[in-house]
Amino acid sequence: MNNFQYYAPTKVVFGKDTEKELGALIKEQGCRKVLVHYGGNSAQKSGLLDRVCRSLEQENMEYVTLGGVVPNPRLSKVREGIALCKENQVDFVLAVGGGSVIDSAKAIGYGVANEGDVWDFYAKVRVPQACLPIGVVLTIAAAGSEMSDSSVITNEAGWLKRGCNNNLCRVKFAVMNPELTYTLPAYQTESGCTDVLMHTMERYFNQADNMEMTDGISEALMRTVIKNAKILLTDPENYEARAEVMWAGSLSHNGLTGCGTDGGDWACHQMEHELGGMFDVAHGAGLAAVWASWARYVCQERMDRFEKFAVNVLGVEPAETAEKTAARGIEAMEAFYRSIQMPTSLTELGIDPTEEQMQEMARKCSWDGGRTVGVVKKLDQGDVLEIYKAAR
Ligand code: NZQ
Ligand code: ZN
Repeated sequence: MNNFQYYAPTKVVFGKDTEKELGALIKEQGCRKVLVHYGGNSAQKSGLLDRVCRSLEQENMEYVTLGGVVPNPRLSKVREGIALCKENQVDFVLAVGGGSVIDSAKAIGYGVANEGDVWDFYAKVRVPQACLPIGVVLTIAAAGSEMSDSSVITNEAGWLKRGCNNNLCRVKFAVMNPELTYTLPAYQTESGCTDVLMHTMERYFNQADNMEMTDGISEALMRTVIKNAKILLTDPENYEARAEVMWAGSLSHNGLTGCGTDGGDWACHQMEHELGGMFDVAHGAGLAAVWASWARYVCQERMDRFEKFAVNVLGVEPAETAEKTAARGIEAMEAFYRSIQMPTSLTELGIDPTEEQMQEMARKCSWDGGRTVGVVKKLDQGDVLEIYKAAR
């Protein structure tokens, strides 16, 4: 087992009606003025936004609001938020929404607390030295941003989707009421479940030694998400299934399932970021569309783990050889994605990139040939292009 640090400082307030505790939670933070940050119209439509604002008013907390965050959140909205916060001397950002709103809140937090251009942190030119404190009311189980150290922003200039990872942005508290996710369209629910799964799968497929404890936690998490994603397809108001998936979403991306590993692969995430940047697809669906092509391209390098995944996570009967078992596991995973109406190819994702567009994505993904992605097999620009082509 590799040495590791596990840092998960977020206070989780989980369960029915927990948003009622919001006022007290904010008060605990000792802040003066809050930015309430939200997305399109789901939080307004459900009445959640009103309830959030009322609970701030009950605590005599001053606040300003900024909505309009879109999936694959944009840098221009982040800049608008930074200006608004500076103008109003905001010292706390409350994100009401999913990964996109939380990531936008984190970026605003960086932009207000540091001098200079916030994009520098995403372009990896500079490292942030501070971040405004962030709180979350989560409305979708997916990105895991409520407990992760990550924020992913899309810069409209060049449509670059880039992440910034730093412990400074770890959320102070996350209110997680599974009932708030009942209103999600099925596609978003299942895309979210896919992302939750993939955050552990990315860590599970690695080049580290055996890790009994971490593998056991990971396998249980993946089996739980697979089971409950199927339930939610036909029973979206099943509280237990919503709750299992929501809690899995946080545990899947707070570092727990990576403890003792080499950090994991993450090539599918890097390849999806290019799809999201260029075609604005839902993140989880984009991951499902490339996963099997990636798996077939790299599995030779870590047959034992693909075999273990097939048997312990997907319940595949072991075949005569590890290769056969691994191949059956990849097929079983594709069948699962289809069963929850997730795509297993770019065509099923609803996009038809040209040869030039695939080359451009491969170029951007490999930073103009300056880096490889993944650890199971280190993938260069050419490998990434092959996987996009195979995923067509
Ligand atoms: O904008 P509204 O109207 O709120 O609609 C949203 C949005 O259209 C809707 N929605 C959210 N909660 C809802 C709801 N609709 C009805 N009822 C509700 N309760 O769902 C849509 C998707 O929301 P979004 O926040 O984009 O989803 P998600 O949580 O999947 O976040 C995706 C973003 O997170 C990034 C992704 O790349 C993508 O940009 N990621 C962030 C990570 C992190 N910070 O740690 C890690 C991930 O790997 C990922 O890259
Ligand atoms: Zn993800």
